[in-house]
This record gives sequence, C-alpha cells and structure tokens, in this order.
Amino acid sequence: MIETSFIPSNLKTDSVEEGIISWRSPSNIALVKYWGKIEPQIPKNPSISFTLTNCFTKTTLKYRKKKKESSTFEFAVFFEGNRMPAFEAKIKKFMERIVAYQPFLLAYDFEIHTENSFPHSSGIASSASGMSALALCLMSLEQRIDPSIDTIQFNKKASFLARLGSGSAARSIEGPLVVWGLHEQVKGSNDLYGIQYPFKVHEVFMDYQDTVLLVDKGVKQVSSTLGHGLMENHPYSSARFDQAHAHLSQLIQVLETGDLDNFIRIVEKEALALHAMMMTSDPYFILMRPNTLEIIERIWRFRKETGSKLCFTLDAGANVHLLFPKKEKESVNRFLTEEILEFCQNKHFISDEAGSGAVKLDDVS
Ligand code: PMV
Repeated sequence: MIETSFIPSNLKTDSVEEGIISWRSPSNIALVKYWGKIEPQIPKNPSISFTLTNCFTKTTLKYRKKKKESSTFEFAVFFEGNRMPAFEAKIKKFMERIVAYQPFLLAYDFEIHTENSFPHSSGIASSASGMSALALCLMSLEQRIDPSIDTIQFNKKASFLARLGSGSAARSIEGPLVVWGLHEQVKGSNDLYGIQYPFKVHEVFMDYQDTVLLVDKGVKQVSSTLGHGLMENHPYSSARFDQAHAHLSQLIQVLETGDLDNFIRIVEKEALALHAMMMTSDPYFILMRPNTLEIIERIWRFRKETGSKLCFTLDAGANVHLLFPKKEKESVNRFLTEEILEFCQNKHFISDEAGSGAVKLDDVS
C-alpha cells in the first residue's frame, strides 16, 4: 500500500454538521525497538510491541462545521479541563501533516479534550496514546462523513495517521502485539502503519504483565525526535538495524512456543542496545539513572535465585518496565515491595498488562 491510497476521493461533509467523538487509546511497550527514522516518520527498522491496557489517553473531539471553509486549522486543546496552548503547536503540526489525507480538517472548528490515566510528567511517554487517540477520533469523523469505511480500512488509516503524529503511536490501535515497519518474514508488515502480529501467539503472552517503575519523573534531557536524528551518521546504525531485523525473526518462534528464556534474552538485549545507541551517538547521552542500573541488577539476581522469568525493558528514559507472565504476579509483587520500590520516585509504579487496543467510548452524533 502506498501513501496516496490514504487520500480520500470526493468526501462530502454536507450531512455532518456537528458532534462529539471519544476514544480511549493505550500506550505500548516495544520489545524490538524503533530508533532511527527518515521523514515522514518512516522507521529505519521494524519494531514490535505489546499494547498496554491501563496506561491510556482518553480524547474527546468536538467538531462543528465552519460557517465558511477557510485555509487555517481552527481548534483549541484542553488537557484535564484546562486550555493548553503548549500542546497546540504540536497538534497544528500534526494537522498540517495529515490534511492531505483528511482534507475535511479545514471544514470544521474543533475542541480537543484529553486526559491521561497515568500522572502527568511521570516519565511515561504519552505521545503514543495521545496521538493514537486523536487519530482515532479523526477517523471516526471521517467515517461519519463516509460510512462505507470498514473496520479494516479504519484501523489501517488510524495507525497511518497516528504514525504521522508520533512513530510509536502507530502501534497503539490494536493488540496485544503489533508490528510496524517492513520485515521480510512478517506478512503485511510495512513502514506506513502498524499491523496486528499475524502469527500464532502462545497464551502466556496474551496477558503478559508490565509493571512500570517510575524511576525518574523529570522531563527527558533529550527528546526522542533528537535521539532518532542521531542515528543518522551513527557509526553503529547499520549493525543496529540488522540486529532489530534478526531479533524480530527470532521472536516469531519464541512467541509461538512460549520460550521465555529466549524471550528474556531478546527483550533485554533490545533495551540495552537502544541505550547503547544513545551512549555512542554524537553527541552522546545517558538516560538511565543509577537506580535504573540498581533495579536491573536486582532483577538479574532475583531471576538467578528463584528461576523467575521476570525481565526488564526500557524506553527512551530512566523508567524500567518489568515484564513477566501473569502467573508470577504474586511473587513479583512481593519482590517489588521488598526490593525494588525504594528505587522508584516516591515508590511510584503502575501495574499494566498486554491488552487488545483502543476502545471507542459512548458518543453523541
Ligand atoms: O514514537 P517516538 O518517536 O517517541 O519514539 C519512541 C521510541 C522508543 O520508545 C524508544 C522505542 C519504541 O519502539 O517505542
């Protein structure tokens, strides 16, 4: 599929005057990481993630037909009830990117109301859940204008639009596992939108647990946009992109058989490879904090002593995601309280698990 196939032909907004649409869209956690891209948000390597459940953004879109169509975007953004001009620049940029695919954006006045289930500035990336929630609302409006759009087209284009807002947002529409980026063994995979992982998945992964440890809630010193950019001219970039392809190939077997030892090996290697890229770029930087490393060492010790299948992954930040099978919930929670929480800011953590993707909420047309 090519970009131009997302340009609608002949959308008539005549019968859609005003209304409200709400979606709840989750965050996701990558097992094979996306790090490095080319414009417009085309990943340098394929990635795969668990879609989460409890970390989500709820977005409500109110739309009203403009009296006269103009060439400017008219919208206001509210975060947890308060007008947020700071978010408006980002959303304007998003609208400029997607207007070719949704020309009706110029025909309406919008109010965008958004809130997160997780605390603001907790260090949890809200761009994946936030951008996918908005993309879904805009797709619902497109579907009201053109009711012939079916679920398959809807999800594809929602992911395509979300990707243009934030790359990893392309992976938040469906679940529990989504692949984004072309990989030769994953049929249907492509760089334009995420697809539900198409192969057999062992039941252990259907409700895999992800406990997010809030190690450092501070604002990131290096934005992910900047970090992606540093993969240009990075001395190890081509080896890194090859490694991501190889890891995804290996995961196919692992996900089918439930081979948790190899799951751990691949997932932890991916997390450390992501941070190794940051530590060897020019300029170099370190997002892990001393407590990140302390937690990793304790996980390794716990695994050695107990035979647990608990492992970690990292995003572009200091927080640690604890990944483990649901049947280990009790023992991991005990380990968490006794040995880990003291390394989290204000002992803060969020219990989450793999889930089935975004949900449309009650709405009024
Ligand atoms: O979607 P972005 O541009 O914020 O990039 C996210 C990149 C990582 O979170 C580090 C990895 C990933 O695949 O989610």
